[in-house]
Amino acid sequence: MGHMPGLNDPIPADRDDWWRHAVVYQVYVRSFADSDGDGVGDLPGITSRLPYLRELGVDALWVTPFYPSPQHDHGYDVADYRDVDPLFGSLADADELIATAHDLGLRVVVDLVPNHTSNEHEWFRAALAAGPGSPERARYLFRDSADGPPNNWSSVFGGPAWTQVEDGQWYLHLFDSTQPDLDWRNPEVPAMFEDVLRFWLDRGVDGFRVDVAHGLVKEELLRDQVVGEDEVPDATPAQSMVERAIRDEPMWDQPEVHDVYRSWHQILDEAGADKMAVAEAWTQTPDSMAAFVRPDELDQAFNFAWLLAPWSAASFAEVVTGTLAAMEPVGASPTWVLSNHDVVRHPTRYGGGARGLARARAATAVMLALPGSSYVYQGEELGLEQVDVAPEHRQDPSWFRTGEPGRDGCRVPIPWSGSKAPYGFGPGTEQPWIPQPDDWSALTAEAQDADPGSTLSFYRRALAARRELAWTAGETVELLDAGADVLAFRRGPLTVLLNCGSAPVALPDGEVLLSSGPLGDGKLPADTAVWLR
Ligand code: GLC
Ligand code: MG
Repeated sequence: MGHMPGLNDPIPADRDDWWRHAVVYQVYVRSFADSDGDGVGDLPGITSRLPYLRELGVDALWVTPFYPSPQHDHGYDVADYRDVDPLFGSLADADELIATAHDLGLRVVVDLVPNHTSNEHEWFRAALAAGPGSPERARYLFRDSADGPPNNWSSVFGGPAWTQVEDGQWYLHLFDSTQPDLDWRNPEVPAMFEDVLRFWLDRGVDGFRVDVAHGLVKEELLRDQVVGEDEVPDATPAQSMVERAIRDEPMWDQPEVHDVYRSWHQILDEAGADKMAVAEAWTQTPDSMAAFVRPDELDQAFNFAWLLAPWSAASFAEVVTGTLAAMEPVGASPTWVLSNHDVVRHPTRYGGGARGLARARAATAVMLALPGSSYVYQGEELGLEQVDVAPEHRQDPSWFRTGEPGRDGCRVPIPWSGSKAPYGFGPGTEQPWIPQPDDWSALTAEAQDADPGSTLSFYRRALAARRELAWTAGETVELLDAGADVLAFRRGPLTVLLNCGSAPVALPDGEVLLSSGPLGDGKLPADTAVWLR
């Protein structure tokens, strides 16, 4: 049975460009919901929780990689792009997920990992077996080098970006040694991924999140990276994507990468006007980000500048202005994101505790009022904080490469219900793959469901209020002067204020459509945002 459009429908059913104003919910498969009791989230688990996402009020879900993988980087090491890892279910389960989501009016975006394969992918096995100089090796970046690695590049996860194989050759891996980089200058590589795109489009997916979209093509000679005297060559592992300490980047954001996306654009177009792709591209400037979303390339790019902005009205204003200015000439819709599976959860980034949560909710309210689309990460609607995962439970490859904590703390399984771990993570689940904290009973979706003051209720209200405005409030944002501590702007009928200072400020007249926390009489408290009409 097809989906019947209704009053509070996620996306206007007749909009092909649904993503332009969508709220996309990121599902980190391992940690969302477990259906079979093995402690690892899976596709049937997601399907069982789709009504929750519908009720939350998001428009789409992005599902992180669920393909066969040895799981060294939790699925970002893909061994087969056209199947489902038995850990997560089967192709039939993927079909079921897509169909159920569509029945509920939710779109489905899948993750595509084109920069590298797993070392267990049949291509890499063949490359090792075939030896130096073979066409099999030419799909990757194998090089000879007598004295140490062929160049000075570092892995994002720490240590050198090269590993030597038995016959003496080295292969490049910008991430873990189990994630060999493909050579995108070899025509076999683009051809393979064009087939992969078509495979998933044929199964009904609505779009793709493109992993490491800025990394596919490297500078041809693989020359050394020039590290300036003031630059730190080895930024914090895993965070080095974020910190971008070095200006010279022969491994990232090369002009030829855009040819790839021009060809993908055509493939998506052929599949339907409503298909989309969003780039994970850690570029250096808003303009270089905009290049990925030119009219004949991808549709969106994650706006990490928003997530990186420190807590101040001026820096938020700068990101808003800079983002809109960069997107306008290419006609792309802006995006906003505060958390994902690679960064510290935003309540913790904003200082943690009650203040961190208040700030997180306020930043979320602002993000949801801006034109364009927002990406929310599972668990942020529950106000989850980063967890300090005990060393014996850490699994991030960067932890194994460097001994630094890594990203496990934002990937702890979702607490659904009950008063103790595993908090309803799945029927029959005893031990989730990362243990949950003992003090999460008040944070479960069940505990927050009926409490109007809960973060979950706040997200539901915000998403419902946004739904009425997203398609009608227009794309123009006019910044207002409300003092140095307050970010204030007008968008169509909306006036939005965010108090980044430490003292309450006066509220202008207007009907309060949404507030991120309690309002003192006529005042906007610190760390609070409000929408007025
Ligand atoms: C992306 C993913 C991250 C992964 C890396 C390598 O940045 O978001 O989780 O480890 O790519 O695929
Ligand atoms: Mg499972």
